[in-house]
Amino acid sequence: MTKTGQLWGGRFTEKPHETFAEFNDSFPFDRRLFAADIRGSIAHAGGLMRAGLITADEADSIIGGLTQLLTDSAIDADFFDSNAEDVHSFIEGRLVDAIGDAGRKLHTGRSRNDQVATAFRIWLRDEIGEIDILIHDLQAAIIDIADGFRDAVMPGYTHLQRAQPVLFAHWCLAYFEMLKRDRDRLADTMRRVNVMPLGSGALAGTGFPIDREAVAAELGFTAVSANSLDAVSDRDFAVEFTSACSLLMVHLSRLAEDMIIYCSTEFGFIKLSDAVSSGSSLMPQKKNPDALELLRGKSGRVFGHNAALLSMLKGLPLAYNKDMQEDKEAVFDTVDTVKISLRAAAIVVENAVVDEERTREAATTGYLNATELADYLVKKGVPFRTAHDAVGRIVLLGMEQGKELNGLTLDEMRAVSNEIGSDVFDALELGSTLESKSAIGGTARSNVNDALTHARTYLNG
Ligand code: ARG
Repeated sequence: MTKTGQLWGGRFTEKPHETFAEFNDSFPFDRRLFAADIRGSIAHAGGLMRAGLITADEADSIIGGLTQLLTDSAIDADFFDSNAEDVHSFIEGRLVDAIGDAGRKLHTGRSRNDQVATAFRIWLRDEIGEIDILIHDLQAAIIDIADGFRDAVMPGYTHLQRAQPVLFAHWCLAYFEMLKRDRDRLADTMRRVNVMPLGSGALAGTGFPIDREAVAAELGFTAVSANSLDAVSDRDFAVEFTSACSLLMVHLSRLAEDMIIYCSTEFGFIKLSDAVSSGSSLMPQKKNPDALELLRGKSGRVFGHNAALLSMLKGLPLAYNKDMQEDKEAVFDTVDTVKISLRAAAIVVENAVVDEERTREAATTGYLNATELADYLVKKGVPFRTAHDAVGRIVLLGMEQGKELNGLTLDEMRAVSNEIGSDVFDALELGSTLESKSAIGGTARSNVNDALTHARTYLNG
C-alpha cells in the first residue's frame, strides 16, 4: 500500500518493510504538531508567492486548503486510520487530495528538516505560554494560603531537625520565589525557541529568493536563524526547555515532600483535602497523600527526558539526523507531565488547612530560641563563639530538667553566663524571635507582609 502523501520514493524500487515503517513513522505521536505545521505551511505559501514561485491563485488555493484542514472535523478519525509517515506527509497528502496539483508546489524551497524544526518551535511557544499561566496559578494558590494563615508560626528545619521559628507565610514565599525563577527561566528559553529555522532548506539554505524575515514576522518569530546547518540540527531549545522544566519539577517535588511530612500524624501541621488523597484497600483508617507523592514521583520522568535529549544529541554530526525525531516524545511528555503536575499542585495547596495550634506548639518547643539567646548575649558584648558555647550549656541544663529555655530561672541561666539579665525572657519570646529577623529576606512579620504585597503586585502584573 502506498503511504499517505509519501514524500519520497522516486529512487526506490522496493517498498519499505512493514517493521521498518513502524519503526520509522512518527505520525502516531507527531500528529500533535498538526496545527503548528499548517501555520508554518500557510506562511511558507505566502513566502513562495511573494517570491514569484507560485501564483496568487495557487497561493489562495493552498492557503484555503490548509485552512480547511484545520477545521475539518473528520481529521481526528483520519489521525487514527492514516498510515502516513509523519505529520508533514499527512498534511501534504491531504492537501493534494483536496486541491490537486497546486498542493504539489507547497514543498518548493523547503525540506522537512527546516519544516519540522519550525513546527516544533511554534508548538512549543504556545505550550510555554500555557505552562507560564499554570505556574502563575500555583503561585497565586500559594499566596492565598499564606494570606489565609498569616499568623501561623511553624518551626523551620535544617537536617529535618527543628531549627528556628518562621512564619508559615515565609515558608510559602520560599516556594513562590522558586516558581518565580522557573518562570524567568522559561521566559528566557522562549527567546531562543522563538527563532525561525524555515528557509534553511535541508541543510545548505534555500535556492529560492524567499524573504525569510517576512515569513518570520507572519509567524510571530522574533528572529530568523543565522546559519542553515545549525538551524536544522539545533535542538538546544528543547534541551533548555526540559532543563527548565526539570528544575520546576524539583521545586514541585520538594514542595510535595515538605507537605507529605507536614501532613503525617507525627507532624500534623497541615490537613489535606479528601479530594486529593486516597485510601488504603486494606487499612480502613488510612488517608494517603497520593497527589503529593505523584508530584514527587513524576519529577523523575522529566529529568529522564532531559537526559535523553542530551545523550541523543551529543554524538550527532551536522546537520539533521533521524535520531532527532526522538526529540518529540521527550518534549511532549515533559509538557503533559508539567501541566498536570502544576494543576494538581495548585489544587492540593488551595485545599490544605494549617493546624495553627500544632505548628505554634512545635515552634515553641525544642529550643528553637537558642540562637536568639546567643544573639542576646552578643548584644550584651559577648563574642558570638563564647555566647554559642554558653547557650549550649544552658540548653543542656534545660534538657536535664525537661524545661524550655524560658522555663529556667534567671539564676540558673546567670550561673552559666552572668551577662544575662531579666530582659532575657522578652528576648526568648516567640514574637521577639521572629521580629528580630528583620534584615532583608528574614521572617520578621513586616518583611513577610511586604513580600506578600509584592507577590500580589507581581501576580496581577
Ligand atoms: N519526522 C521527522 C522528524 O521529526 C521529520 C524530518 C524528517 N526529515 C528527514 N530528512 N527524514 O524529525
